[in-house]
Amino acid sequence: MAHHEFVYREPGTQSRAIALRDEKSLSPSYTRSYGFAISHGSGAEVWDADGNRYVDFAAGIAVLATGYSHPRIVAAIQEQAARYIHIGATDFFCPEPVKLAEKLQQIIPVHHAAPEDKRVYFANSGTEAIEAALKLARYREHRSHLIAFYGGFHGRTMGSLSLTASKNKQRGGYPYIPGGVTHVPYPARNECNDCENNGCCSQCWSDAVGFIEKFVFKKVPPREVAAVVVEPIQGEGGYLVPRADFFPRLRQMCDKYGILLIADEIQSGVGRTGKWTALEHFGVAADIVCLAKGLGSGVPIGAIVAHDNVMSKWVPGAHASTFGGNPLACAAGLATLNVIEDEHLMTQVTELGDYTLKRLQNFMQHHPSLSRVDGMGFMIGVDFKDAQGNPIPNFRDEVVNQAYLNGLLLLGCGESGIRFAPPLVLTKPLLEEGLDILEHTIANVEEELWVSAED
Ligand SMILES: Cc1ncc(COP(=O)(O)O)c(C=O)c1O
Repeated sequence: MAHHEFVYREPGTQSRAIALRDEKSLSPSYTRSYGFAISHGSGAEVWDADGNRYVDFAAGIAVLATGYSHPRIVAAIQEQAARYIHIGATDFFCPEPVKLAEKLQQIIPVHHAAPEDKRVYFANSGTEAIEAALKLARYREHRSHLIAFYGGFHGRTMGSLSLTASKNKQRGGYPYIPGGVTHVPYPARNECNDCENNGCCSQCWSDAVGFIEKFVFKKVPPREVAAVVVEPIQGEGGYLVPRADFFPRLRQMCDKYGILLIADEIQSGVGRTGKWTALEHFGVAADIVCLAKGLGSGVPIGAIVAHDNVMSKWVPGAHASTFGGNPLACAAGLATLNVIEDEHLMTQVTELGDYTLKRLQNFMQHHPSLSRVDGMGFMIGVDFKDAQGNPIPNFRDEVVNQAYLNGLLLLGCGESGIRFAPPLVLTKPLLEEGLDILEHTIANVEEELWVSAED
């Protein structure tokens, strides 16, 4: 506890005043994790309207790759805005999307594609990147069916919602979600207490590829399957890392049947796991890679990168967007990728991520509420379970709430987990400060709420 003095704080009057106006003016469909209103941010620190300071392990839902207002991102946006803010992608040619596409051709791996073989389509958000990928995959050979995973989150517009199977409140109440999607269990490692490493029991759902070949293909002929859509590390579903053999086997299966592999790297991409894409950790590449979140450092942008063999099936007019590839977002995107490279952020993410993983795994040895600590780089999940091994969402919510009151921003994920997803620019001293708060908070919530097996 050497690094931090804990101050228990309630949301102040300024924050409460904004929250009250928010309630009277904005849709009630937004969930809110904390009661404060932002004043400003810098790097991985945020100040609220009442002057309280927070360490940020959430990064605007894993978006703020370069922090809240990196000077080079601000300059890129300002310079671009001073020249022109918008032209439509279908108006005339524009250098900014070309420059960003050329950079993505260099850094984003695509199956059997040299840089010059790749093509990029720009959208404005994660869900729109997924919509584009689905449309392209189905359009290519007029195959209708898609395979996705339980626990997966791919967005909330109707096409992406047909793939999402993370929380039933996200789909519930919408009667006409498009069909043609079969969900299968995600083969997460380290998900149950009985298996040391790679999953060996029915709870780990270890053989997802076998399940597809043995069962899904009984229902749908493989020649009618357009694509398998998968998060290389499951995000909203719990920050779950798959078994090591999953992606090589999935890649093989896709190649065998001419099925496209679509990697949803919207949360895991752009350096978050210490590589440009998380799939690189598993030694395979996808046919279509979906990006968003971190790509614009907070300026809305989405992108898909695919082999020209695939994207060239689209004829002019088959898909487009008014704002997609807009110069402001593309200038922010290019500046983001350059900052990640120039400041060696992926090396830092790997080193600090390993440190965090070890420290939390060590903490877990002495704290019975933690059932799993796993992840890669700045994408680490911590699960809480009761003494019988059941999820404890109330306990998790209390950890998130008390961490906030102690000056640390966290986000939940999965049934009763939290995620470590800070800006990639997080420094070692700030990391230590945040981890001190997190450990102190968990210990405190354990004292208040933990019921041991003997009790
Ligand atoms: C893996 C993944 N895919 C897609 C999305 C949807 O992105 P957006 O909210 O920008 O539409 C998200 C958002 O959390 C995500 O985490």
